[in-house]
Amino acid sequence: MNSVLRVGIIGGGLMGREAASAFARWFVLNNFPVQVELVAVCDFQQSLLEWFRQIPTVKLLTQNHQELLASPEVDVVYVAVPHHLHESIYLDVLKAGKDLLAEKPFGIDLAAARRINDAAAVSGRFVRCSSEFPFLPGPQRVVQFVQSGRLGKPLEIRSCFWHSSDLDPSKPINWKRQVRSCGEIGVMGDLGMHVVHLPLRLGWNPIRVYAQLQKIYSERPDGRGGMAPCDTWDNAMLHTDVVIDGLETPMRLETKRLAPGSTNTWSIEVLGTEGGIRYSTAEPKTLWVFDRQKEQWWNRTELGFQTPFPTISGGIFEPGFPDCFLQMWAAYAAERAGALGGRFGCVTPDEAVRSHQIFAAALESHQTHSAVSLT
Ligand SMILES: NC(=O)c1ccc[n+]([C@@H]2O[C@H](COP(=O)([O-])OP(=O)(O)OC[C@H]3O[C@@H](n4cnc5c(N)ncnc54)[C@H](O)[C@@H]3O)[C@@H](O)[C@H]2O)c1
Repeated sequence: MNSVLRVGIIGGGLMGREAASAFARWFVLNNFPVQVELVAVCDFQQSLLEWFRQIPTVKLLTQNHQELLASPEVDVVYVAVPHHLHESIYLDVLKAGKDLLAEKPFGIDLAAARRINDAAAVSGRFVRCSSEFPFLPGPQRVVQFVQSGRLGKPLEIRSCFWHSSDLDPSKPINWKRQVRSCGEIGVMGDLGMHVVHLPLRLGWNPIRVYAQLQKIYSERPDGRGGMAPCDTWDNAMLHTDVVIDGLETPMRLETKRLAPGSTNTWSIEVLGTEGGIRYSTAEPKTLWVFDRQKEQWWNRTELGFQTPFPTISGGIFEPGFPDCFLQMWAAYAAERAGALGGRFGCVTPDEAVRSHQIFAAALESHQTHSAVSLT
């Protein structure tokens, strides 16, 4: 059966437009059971609404999100607004009886995430949170490798997401650099969901967190000739313990805005006594797999376009950010339609709450300079 998913977007900025681009390329998905149509967009900024006029299926452009939510044409709402607005708008979406794909971090803090989770459960609506990198072929191979049991005894895990443009002190301030709109968790709210999605899905739930948080620049140009306070955490290194096969295993979660040279670099490394695997978007085609026999090797494989949902793209082509974002939306649509078929799914509300528990523990750990238990 070929059903149509009618989407409304609240927040037509960077990510709202990325979603529109994913919907516009939906036909690359091969024999996919759900079609998608972007029907309505809401943003404060008229200039952004104008951009969406080029999409023929968009029937409603509004500056008032309640107007979008009142539309019977909208089935699912994608909300991509600053973090301090997540809770109130997500709750409005649920109250309006719509399904939700919520941008991370799923509320500005743990308390907000819990309230959203409770409301989602009561509403019975289909709610998931955004995190796209695990849908690339490399991370999918990491999942398969771990599940195949080829690791042996687990040694350590490292999951990272690094940016570097904040190294430039002349970069103007924006809402992601201020606690009021980004949240006390700072860089963890911005980048943290990306590093916990795959580990949590593999059952690696931290039982203990020791955090090192850094604020390097305390102010930035305000874009009007003055300076504005920049009070969020820039870098966060979370040293956690997870239990795998009864063994306590170190897992490091790194989110950094000040990682020299890195532009949106997502990476993961999982090491065991028998095998290991390593992938980074810095080398998007390259997968490293460790093998130990009499000698030891890191074997390099060039990956192609083996995405979870097959596409018309050539099997030897290389995927990028827009592709994994489209794959994430395909996972959302498929799971909502009961057609995920055992594939990797989007972040669940429970996982989103667990991510916030880790970040809240990190704040406490940094303040007390001690490890915080999560059990
Ligand atoms: N999944 C990812 O890879 C990824 C990447 C970047 C950002 N994000 C997340 O997406 C969300 C948005 O980030 P962004 O980078 O797109 O920000 P952005 O600033 O580019 O866009 C946010 C938009 O929301 C609009 N807006 C603000 N309040 C509104 C309201 N009440 N009603 C309607 N529109 C409103 C703003 O005008 C702006 O256009 C955040 O939660 C962020 O963490 C996710």
